[in-house]
Amino acid sequence: MLGFRRGCFEKVCVSSHGTIRGRVPRGLWKEQEQLETPVKRQLPPPGPSSTFLPPHTHTLDPSHTFWIVPFKKISPSFDSQTSQAFFPKRPIMEDLISREPRDLGRALCIITGASKGYGRALAFQLSCRLKPRSVLVLVARSTAQLNELKEDIVSLCGQNKLDVRCVQADLEETEGVEKTVQALKETNSTEMDHVLLINNAASLGDVSRFAQSFTDPAEVNRYLSLNVSGALSLTAGVLQAFPRRLGLRRTVVNISSLCALKPFPSWVLYCTGKAARDMMFRVLAEEEPDVRVLSYAPGPLDTDMQLQARRFSGDLNLRRSFCSMFSEHQLLSCEESGSKLIKLLLDNNFPSGAHLDFYEL
Ligand SMILES: NC(=O)c1ccc[n+]([C@@H]2O[C@H](COP(=O)([O-])OP(=O)(O)OC[C@H]3O[C@@H](n4cnc5c(N)ncnc54)[C@H](OP(=O)(O)O)[C@@H]3O)[C@@H](O)[C@H]2O)c1
Repeated sequence: MLGFRRGCFEKVCVSSHGTIRGRVPRGLWKEQEQLETPVKRQLPPPGPSSTFLPPHTHTLDPSHTFWIVPFKKISPSFDSQTSQAFFPKRPIMEDLISREPRDLGRALCIITGASKGYGRALAFQLSCRLKPRSVLVLVARSTAQLNELKEDIVSLCGQNKLDVRCVQADLEETEGVEKTVQALKETNSTEMDHVLLINNAASLGDVSRFAQSFTDPAEVNRYLSLNVSGALSLTAGVLQAFPRRLGLRRTVVNISSLCALKPFPSWVLYCTGKAARDMMFRVLAEEEPDVRVLSYAPGPLDTDMQLQARRFSGDLNLRRSFCSMFSEHQLLSCEESGSKLIKLLLDNNFPSGAHLDFYEL
């Protein structure tokens, strides 16, 4: 079985209502590690699924006050006990970040695959982090969804604060990449102090079949065209269009996955594409020391891609794991994962070219 929670620490939340187990943002845990006495925090009363009582249960003072103690490091195997997990509605990490006054400068920010899922959530979150008169470029194939997102962002931020542009493009095709780069060139780069490209668009590919069934090179090439070639050519086009200049920060993010590092049976296309992308961006980081390059694995997200994974994965164990993750509320919200990415970008002290995982932060 699979280790989606690699590097994550499980915590036990102890309350007068019993013991509940769940994920806690690691930042909070660290914060508590540094304290001599555990911090008490308010939580809503635990739900019916949170009555699991491990042997070392403590009883605390009355009311819903609880503390969180480190319990154990999750093993690389999928833990069936996590069905008892309890997830706070709003992650604490998100609260911390939304109060942060920092921004990403006056930026040209490009997000591919912005029409839905993670890209859409990132577009919202990033729009709040850009200085006035920044340009936000949303790229995908679905015009209607992009326009809808643009309207939502403009009504959130105000017309004057942010210039939101939609580029309808199929990044599997050369023309789609060229059209996107062309659209970006309309921006006056001298007015910007940050160019931020988020390579988020991707596809899962056919996960119903195993490696030895992919005898047709054209099928494989089509997959790699969006997921590898498209990402490289777009990144190269953006870096050429906005060359190194004093005072210009350039950041390229590759939305990666645990699959870049770990083989998943029946996911040969996806794993290959993600591994290739990670290496591509590591090479870029070596070649262009002024460009800040990050491969960020966002964790298992509750999106259409996950739905496909649950429905179509050819490997039975894998399919079951995805189904349990869904039914046991193990999937992350795009916002929760996006918050960590934005914190990384705001801190801007990651080693360029690094692969960083949601669960390791
Ligand atoms: N979901 C997860 O559990 C998970 C886990 C780890 C990593 N990731 C990564 O996170 C990123 C976002 O995934 P997601 O779950 O949000 O996926 P999703 O819901 O399937 O969304 C994919 C996005 O990519 C766009 N896209 C797909 N094909 C395209 C093409 N040919 N040209 C241009 N845009 C295209 C889609 O828009 P259109 O259809 O409108 O073009 C959509 O906006 C991906 O890189 C994925 O590999 C996801």
